[in-house]
Amino acid sequence: MLAGWAHIRRDHGKLIFIDLRDRSGIIQLVIIPDKEEAYKAAKDVRSEFVLKVEGLVKARPGGAANEKIATGCVELEVERLTILNQAKALPFEVSKDTKDINEELRLKYRYLDLRTERMKNNTIMRHKIVKFMRDYCDTQGFIEVETPALTKGTPEGSREFIVPSRLHKGKFYVLPQSPQQFKQLLMVAGLEKYFQIARCFRDEDQRGDRQPEFMQLDMEMSFIEQEDIIRIIEGLMIELIKNIYPEKKIAQIPFPRLTWDEAMKKYNSDKPDLRKNKEDPNELALEWVVDFPMFSRDKEGNLGAEHHPFTSPKAEDMPTLESNPEKVRANAYDIILNGNEIGGGSIRIHDRTIQHRVFQVLGIKEEDIQKRFGHMLDAFTYGAPPHGGIALGIDRIVAILQGEINIREVIVFPKTGEAEDLLMGAPSEIEESQLQELGIKKAPSKALKVKIQTKK
Ligand code: AMO
Repeated sequence: MLAGWAHIRRDHGKLIFIDLRDRSGIIQLVIIPDKEEAYKAAKDVRSEFVLKVEGLVKARPGGAANEKIATGCVELEVERLTILNQAKALPFEVSKDTKDINEELRLKYRYLDLRTERMKNNTIMRHKIVKFMRDYCDTQGFIEVETPALTKGTPEGSREFIVPSRLHKGKFYVLPQSPQQFKQLLMVAGLEKYFQIARCFRDEDQRGDRQPEFMQLDMEMSFIEQEDIIRIIEGLMIELIKNIYPEKKIAQIPFPRLTWDEAMKKYNSDKPDLRKNKEDPNELALEWVVDFPMFSRDKEGNLGAEHHPFTSPKAEDMPTLESNPEKVRANAYDIILNGNEIGGGSIRIHDRTIQHRVFQVLGIKEEDIQKRFGHMLDAFTYGAPPHGGIALGIDRIVAILQGEINIREVIVFPKTGEAEDLLMGAPSEIEESQLQELGIKKAPSKALKVKIQTKK
């Protein structure tokens, strides 16, 4: 007995063939006129109908075998056939790759797009990769901990998504850009080795390698140095590739290391692609870029943290922290795969005075330091251990290993380039009553203002 979807139906006059598909693959059904009821039902079957069949598995007659599919040497001779549900004509064919189909249509009907072989495979491989990461962290003695999504902002350099509070009108939660502060606080709590498959939220301009919400393998450790983190992450990537993608070859082990200065001088990029043959889908070039600058200036000339403000400056550069901040290097590192930044981390500050100095160098007013980061400064006064960590971008890793250019191809329900969810229809207007309950009034839209002005 099998159940699944009618992938393709071929009526050969006398015999009816149906390719039945389920998650595991495809098998050919053959329905002969002798089985009257089944034959009658099979006449009505159309693509993507949901079927249940009972019958006998038989070897296909010699010459009829199909070597391209795993079940190609057998077929199921159907005794009974039940149509469990019908299907309208689909907006696009799912028996073919949908790469060339309009992406908006694919996203509107994502549940159909996910039926295609490539998208199903991406979803299954993503599961395998995440499971491997989780198991690896577990065997290395890391504890998985969930941190909140309704919280206060944590600076990672992007705009934040905010959530209005009903109980505290006029106040807002912020969705975390990463679990950065919580994972450091877990080190102060004495957890020593933390990890999380963490959802992160960033309101930034979309690109092929960016989504407003995305997943990180987030890790933090106490009593460690940069070398320890590099060793653990190299171990993870090497084992992951060996186990899940045995056909792929890592160009160089241990992964080459470049300082940020070297990378910029030699390649004019902080994520150079070190592959020898970019056409070879099985070549993987992994490298570390280390010693990033601690600060950089934005277009307006304001100093910002290059990684984030919890990153520790290099001890030898500390004397010029205030006098020449742009020359200060950080204990920060990125891991690069085929020219893509797949992860980044740093050894953190665990000393209250140094953390306070870094906030000052960033030009944050004393009052704001206390308001935004008082809890971190406080925590550092209660026996904070030296600590550091890293976060890997799961969507990017899966996309590269699956040979996809855009991370949308490895996310089941992604947002468009305009940060919209076309399937659910988000973002959307909400009821006036809901706004009232939250104490929120909509400002007149710009278009409205223009209209009022022109009337005058
Ligand atoms: P960072 O901001 O470098 O570090 O993020 C870590 C990794 O997450 C991935 N990434 C993204 N993937 C998809 N869409 C996005 N919008 C997006 N933004 C980032 C990248 C990146 O390398 N808290 C620190 C980590 C740490 O210091 O431990 C952090 O979030 O692959």
